[in-house]
Amino acid sequence: MTPATTAAATSSPWWRGAAVYQIYPRSFFDSNGDGIGDLPGITAHLDHIAYLGAEAIWISPFFTSPMVDFGYDVADYCDIDPIFGTLADFDALVARAHALGLKVMIDLVFAHTSDQHPWFAESRADRANPKSDWYVWADPRPDGTPPSNWQSVFGGPAWTWDARRRQYYMHQFLKEQPQLNGHNPAVQEALLGVTRFWLERGVDGFRLDALNHMMFDPKLRDNPPAPEDGSPRTRPFDYQDRRYSQDHPGVVDFIERIAAVCGEYGAIFTVAEVGGARPEPRMKAYTSSDSRLSSAYSFAFLYAEALTPALVKGALAKWPGRPDAKGRAEGWPSWAFDNHDAPRSLSRWCPCYTRAADATEAEKDRWARLEIAVLVALRGNIFLYQGQELGLEQDEIPFHLLKDPEAIANWPLTLSRDGVRTPMPWDAGAPHGGFTTSEPWLPLSDKNIARAVGTQAADPTSLLAHTRYLLGLRKASPALREGALEGCVARQDLLAFTRSCAQESLFCAFNLGAGTLTIKAPPGSVLLSINDGSPELLPPFSAVFIRG
Ligand code: BGC
Repeated sequence: MTPATTAAATSSPWWRGAAVYQIYPRSFFDSNGDGIGDLPGITAHLDHIAYLGAEAIWISPFFTSPMVDFGYDVADYCDIDPIFGTLADFDALVARAHALGLKVMIDLVFAHTSDQHPWFAESRADRANPKSDWYVWADPRPDGTPPSNWQSVFGGPAWTWDARRRQYYMHQFLKEQPQLNGHNPAVQEALLGVTRFWLERGVDGFRLDALNHMMFDPKLRDNPPAPEDGSPRTRPFDYQDRRYSQDHPGVVDFIERIAAVCGEYGAIFTVAEVGGARPEPRMKAYTSSDSRLSSAYSFAFLYAEALTPALVKGALAKWPGRPDAKGRAEGWPSWAFDNHDAPRSLSRWCPCYTRAADATEAEKDRWARLEIAVLVALRGNIFLYQGQELGLEQDEIPFHLLKDPEAIANWPLTLSRDGVRTPMPWDAGAPHGGFTTSEPWLPLSDKNIARAVGTQAADPTSLLAHTRYLLGLRKASPALREGALEGCVARQDLLAFTRSCAQESLFCAFNLGAGTLTIKAPPGSVLLSINDGSPELLPPFSAVFIRG
């Protein structure tokens, strides 16, 4: 059942259309028995990812950090936190990945550092030191209140008072994550130096964390209220139109500097995380030419409550693959259904269709197979998050076991990040699913342990085998990797489109609902049938790909 797995013949860079596998290092594999995953643990299990057929890994931060935001608060960009290992461990990881044919991407957090970073220690010391404006400092308003109304993503004002300078400093996430002053050329230089450091160590790409948060209105003008659009408001942040606190157009100039450095090292894959309301114009601006980034990572599916045909069509329609009215190139999207910040897609989406509090195991399995088929058919890069290939479900973590500061601060209306960060199950027969020999930092649930890698690897009909098959299919298909996506139909539960290029044309149809649909597919041979989908009939949660 394995399709030809050689990459489609193309002159494009390796990353275009590639499937990337995201690793959350705390939860992948614990090699030293301290309950927390680490770099040698990743190295030990890279063969799982190579076997799966992903072309690259993206590793969430492993840099020196007090771990208040579990590594997204960096205290030294050029070293490894001892929890995760050493630089030698990182070098060994890269060597093993490359030997297996996997590219390595790391996660650069450039909008903020940890408050424990020496840069911040220096900056906060007084108002006259050489790094005094490496962060965003401002005097209080005359009444002592913060300089602007800006709110932080994780709740509460984006400003914290600092007694040393008798000023406020800005932070868009936790107060332990002071905002770097991205407008400052010296800060940009330092961050380019960090980029170079990791390129010299052999990395093949970067995910650029919260990049549109990197620059803000230097006049610190107040954000206006957000218009009521029905989207949920769980934090003060949600009530604002963040036009001044983020998304400053100067980010594009910095992006061109990053791209120039990367350009010295060959085909480096750079993907920007771009959140916020209506992100597409920025995603395109960040990726619209060879002198900018490779791709921008979409949030379109990450928090969606249901995977509807209309949602998919709407997301794809924003990337028609044509230059805009002014002749500017469009750029290139990246898609993910799951990551370390959003509740697992299987748990978000399957129950919406089965209309039951808890879908049966058979329904979950059918849904998970369909979901992967939709993902591999999308035009752009695709990202899988660890455990998605196993059908892992969101775990419910009780309040007393929560670790994520966002979850604790906003409980019970949290982003549920702990529940998607529970450890990978490797061996259903071993304690803690074989993830660790001691107490894991977050518990594994029995339902997820039952889906362990070992169990599924032994079963050719498993979801793991299915995911491997579909990634192989995509890799071997120039139409799926890079072809145009046209004729998208979203009619009730039916989603259909054609992926095509000079070499081939594929008609892809999906039934995202729990009823049966009749269809009339164009002539051709069936390349793929998921859950008994055929050119005439799509049973619940089925799909068919037809080569014309
Ligand atoms: C990361 C989060 C992190 C935040 C602050 C993001 O968007 O994905 O995990 O908490 O940036 O760095």
